[in-house]
Parts: sequence; structure tokens; C-alpha cells
Amino acid sequence: MKRVLVTGASSGVGLELMKRLLGSGHHVVTLTRSPLPAVPEVQAARERGHLSGYQGNLADAKSRTTALAEIASAHPRLDVVFNVAGVSLGKPQTTAQGREIHFEVNTLAPFVVLDELRPSLERGEDRLLVNVSSNAALMVNSFDPAVLPAPEEFKKLFGPYALSKLALSLWTHALAPRLEATRIRVISVCPGPNKTPMTAGDGMPWWLLMLRPLLFAHPRKGATTLWQAAFAHPSAPSGAFLVKGKPTPIPFLERASEVLTLVESAAGTRGH
Ligand SMILES: NC(=O)c1ccc[n+]([C@@H]2O[C@H](COP(=O)([O-])OP(=O)(O)OC[C@H]3O[C@@H](n4cnc5c(N)ncnc54)[C@H](OP(=O)(O)O)[C@@H]3O)[C@@H](O)[C@H]2O)c1
Repeated sequence: MKRVLVTGASSGVGLELMKRLLGSGHHVVTLTRSPLPAVPEVQAARERGHLSGYQGNLADAKSRTTALAEIASAHPRLDVVFNVAGVSLGKPQTTAQGREIHFEVNTLAPFVVLDELRPSLERGEDRLLVNVSSNAALMVNSFDPAVLPAPEEFKKLFGPYALSKLALSLWTHALAPRLEATRIRVISVCPGPNKTPMTAGDGMPWWLLMLRPLLFAHPRKGATTLWQAAFAHPSAPSGAFLVKGKPTPIPFLERASEVLTLVESAAGTRGH
């Protein structure tokens, strides 16, 4: 039985991934903002003692640090960590830390999760971190890491959201060689287009909302993509960005170490 952490398990792809992990007999640790829905899989896992749920807001430095500290102390061993939680909003928003929210939740929070839970992952067997990214990262055509915490322009999906996911895949790539000694592998993965609350929300451009019924799959499909990225063999090299299950070149790779430095400093200097 593996012990696996999933953030964002309250809905969409994260919820389906949690169900699949539970169905395979693993122990799932969840970190969610909203309570887990009262679906039969959750009830059954609670009764068997296979589910440990924690609540925290990943946009809020204090809340996430408190929740992660609790998880780290209750779960000294974690085999795999899936950073699934993410936001794609319809208008600009700034967090209490003064940072643009897509950067805070989609880029920085996954780094903080790893940082806080690294000792637990080091004691695990798989030692794998999966960051859920997006192929929107491939659509970015100009990129300056310095603007990530406060981008000047807003565009649905292809603005701060795409930048935040590109930055996530870039720091994942830059961190991989540094973690070699710990045998922790880090990958970023696009789950593909899924019908979830996020893709029905106002963060989606109107034309994509029109195409959604035709082109987007049930979130089980995205969960399967994440599952395969983590557990299928041969596994992807550490640092890879998987799109449609295959390692894919990350744009602006030459800026990867700059992004990692930015994220490390935001995590360190703002008290996480
Ligand atoms: N669906 C797609 O087509 C698609 C494509 C590419 C990438 N992705 C990525 O896949 C991941 C899952 O997205 P989804 O489509 O399944 O969307 P979703 O159903 O909206 O799920 C997003 C999850 O993130 C959580 N979350 C958002 N803000 C949070 C915060 N401040 N603190 C803690 N948790 C927070 C949500 O919690 P609440 O329930 O409390 O809102 C929810 O559980 C995201 O990273 C997304 O960017 C999705």
C-alpha cells in the first residue's frame, strides 16, 4: 500500500485521481480548501482508515504552512505527492502576500508543498513529485520571469494562467538535478482537456467554452493521465514535462534556473 498525497482532491481531476488511488488500495492524504465531497468512495475509505484529510488554503501563506506542517508530522513517509490544485480565473486577483494569484497557487504553492514535505518523500519508496501543469504553457510567446508575481497584462487562460504553468514546469525542470542525491524525482504533467468546474468557469475564453462539450473529456481521463505518468513504466526522466504522456520540450528553458531562484526566494522571504 502506497501513501500518496493529493492536493485539489475536492473536485475535477484531483477528485478522480483520489478515487482511483483509493480503489487500488492505497492510503490517500488530501490537502483541500473545500471539504471532500460525501461520495461513497470517501465514506468507505474513511471507514477503512485509508483516507487522511487536511484542509488549507494554498493561496494563503499561513494557512498552507500550518496544514503542511500538520501533514508532515502525521505522515513521516509519503511515496508520491501530486500537486493537482490550481486556479484559472476570469479577472486579476492579488493574494494577501501581494502576489498575483495564479503565480501564488499554481507556481509557488507546489514548491512550498515539496519543500515542507521533502523529508516525508525522502523516506518514501517511489520518491516522486508530480506537478500538474498545462499545455497552455506551450502557448506563451514572450516570457520574463521577473513579472510573474505581478504581471501587467491579464488575458483569460493565455495570460497569467499560462505563465504560471510554464513557470511551474520550468522550476520542476531546474530542480530535478539538484534532487538527484535524494533520489526524489520531479515531473510536470498536462492532464489534457477535462470537463471540470475550472473549464466551465469564467477563466475560460468564450470560444473554448463553446468547444468544451466536443473536445473535453470526463476528468477520469485526466486522472488516468496523471496515474500513468506516475506509475507506468518506463517512467519519465526527472525534470520532464509530459504532454499527451510524452516528454515535451519546455519553452524558455534557458530561463528555468531564474524561475527556480525566484520561487525559492518567494517561498523563503515571505515566510512561505
Ligand atoms: N481541466 C482541464 O482541462 C485542465 C487542463 C490542463 C491543466 N489542468 C490543471 O489540472 C488541475 C486540476 O484542475 P481541474 O480542471 O480539475 O479544476 P477544478 O475542478 O476547478 O479543481 C481545482 C482544485 O484546486 C483547488 N484549489 C483552487 N484554489 C485553491 C486554493 N487556494 N487552495 C487550495 N486548493 C485550491 C480547488 O479547490 P475548491 O474545491 O475549494 O475550489 C479544486 O479542488 C489544475 O492544476 C489545472 O490547472 C486542468
